[in-house]
Amino acid sequence: MSNLAQLHGRHVVLGLSGGIACYKAAELARELIKVGATVQVVMTEAAEHFITAVTMQALSGRPVATSQWDPREANNMAHINLSREADAVLVAPASADFIAKIAQGRADDLLSLLCLARPLKAGGQPCPLLLAPAMNREMWAHPATQRNLAQVAADGALVLGPGHGDQACGEVGDGRMLEAAELRDGLVASFQPKLLAGRRVLITAGPTFEAIDPVRGITNLSSGKMGFAVARAAQEAGALVTLVAGPVHLPTPRHVRRIDVKSAQQMHDAVLPIAAEHDVFVATAAVADWRPASASDQKIKKDGSGQMPTIAMTENPDILAAVARLPGRPYCVGFAAESHDLARHAREKLVRKNVPLVVGNLGPATFGRDDNTLLLVDAQGERELATADKLSLARELVREIARRIGQ
Ligand code: C5P
Repeated sequence: MSNLAQLHGRHVVLGLSGGIACYKAAELARELIKVGATVQVVMTEAAEHFITAVTMQALSGRPVATSQWDPREANNMAHINLSREADAVLVAPASADFIAKIAQGRADDLLSLLCLARPLKAGGQPCPLLLAPAMNREMWAHPATQRNLAQVAADGALVLGPGHGDQACGEVGDGRMLEAAELRDGLVASFQPKLLAGRRVLITAGPTFEAIDPVRGITNLSSGKMGFAVARAAQEAGALVTLVAGPVHLPTPRHVRRIDVKSAQQMHDAVLPIAAEHDVFVATAAVADWRPASASDQKIKKDGSGQMPTIAMTENPDILAAVARLPGRPYCVGFAAESHDLARHAREKLVRKNVPLVVGNLGPATFGRDDNTLLLVDAQGERELATADKLSLARELVREIARRIGQ
């Protein structure tokens, strides 16, 4: 499924309780619809003080439900009808009061009523409930709120956020509702199967930069997008992910630990000490094979001879091969960015680096782009993953890795 249709076929009840962050719920409704969801908005009375049902109806394309006493419901059971249709209930904003209600199982308005009435889905799990807290930092930090949050989490709700930063009241701290795109991604992630639950996954991504002098260096066209997509997909699948990134301008996928490095040697030094603590190592980085033997402290000036100065080069350590040599090594996955003869080169790397899986892709065709085509090569054979956006391919790769490590 395309990245743009990540919630295709999903019906989401978007609940709004009272808070300034209701203004972000308007954007959230649009974001969810953009990625294919149908959205049924349910608002509490307090929410209607912050944003109108007219706005939410226009954005969601459906009348907003606000009352359990709505006589237009044929059976007069709006809470049952709404919760039976839903693939997930996302309450954004979830006020301190609303979280307290859910923690106690109270049901004195339509939104809390339908949260309590969520049915069991196939597999015996209730229809998922996701809460996006939004409140002043003191309210967030209050022991009663924290106690209620612990209770709702223990009862199976997924708490998204909150974020940290400027608050509507003028204070700064924890309690801001996450942004619409972050909530959309959190909801998408909640639907992914937890194929790597509890596993630790280490990923390298991006190019490296090998300094020649303080202003120049050698790098390559890798954008890091494939590696960042693998990090996101592994995290969505329940893994604890560490991402060692070369110089790229990409946002860190949510809940991923990121270590920024520049050179191949720095990437090696960041990866090697922690590699054996991980279950899986995916080397997507386009690591420079060579670096200047010694970087000049000062900018190298033209000397008027018309000749470029000779720069002595030395080989960089092979990070993937070094990890594959470790005792107790993680399951190692290499990438092969080639311009031709993909299968042959990928198989050659499988043997040379002694790793169980190599993923081939055509470097010039994919560097910087949002889509890719992958060729999985292992001892058993080859499998092509047809052209798709990098996140979809990353999710497929995660499924393949999970299958191979017996998850
Ligand atoms: O050796 P080559 O660059 O062809 O192999 C590519 C694979 O090896 C990729 O997975 C890349 O991340 C990894 N690699 C590495 N350290 C290097 C060179 C490549 O980890 N110095």
